[in-house]
Amino acid sequence: MGGTNPYLKDPEYTLPQRKYQITFRHEGGETVVEIDPAKIPYGRDGLPGSILDIALAHGIALDHACGGVCACSTCHVIVREGGASCNASSDQENDQLDNAPGLTPKSRLGCQCVPDGTSDLVVEVPDWNRNLVREAPH
Ligand code: FES
Repeated sequence: MGGTNPYLKDPEYTLPQRKYQITFRHEGGETVVEIDPAKIPYGRDGLPGSILDIALAHGIALDHACGGVCACSTCHVIVREGGASCNASSDQENDQLDNAPGLTPKSRLGCQCVPDGTSDLVVEVPDWNRNLVREAPH
């Protein structure tokens, strides 16, 4: 699944105008990726240019059970640095985040958080959120 949720109003966000970097901290260490505004959207999951969109395009494992339409909390990330350059979280995002384990003041849904590129980011992918939702083997 991907795209947008037809029952929710799209949150407001500003796409970057210049290249910037996100350092992803995850179970396996750190991965630094450079975001090129010309390549946004990278894929179909999450808002264009969202942390989920960027993570999946760069091989960063980030669960996204609802396909990035703000209908779960499996894409929970913690924006450790650079959060001020991201769009404000919507009421719908905050409602979903309430269900996320390990919630922090810097928590966001990766599929709804769109940096504007005015600063670099450090984003933590919580270990408990990776590979949390998987189909059972057939
Ligand atoms: S993937 Fe479901 S809310 Fe982000």
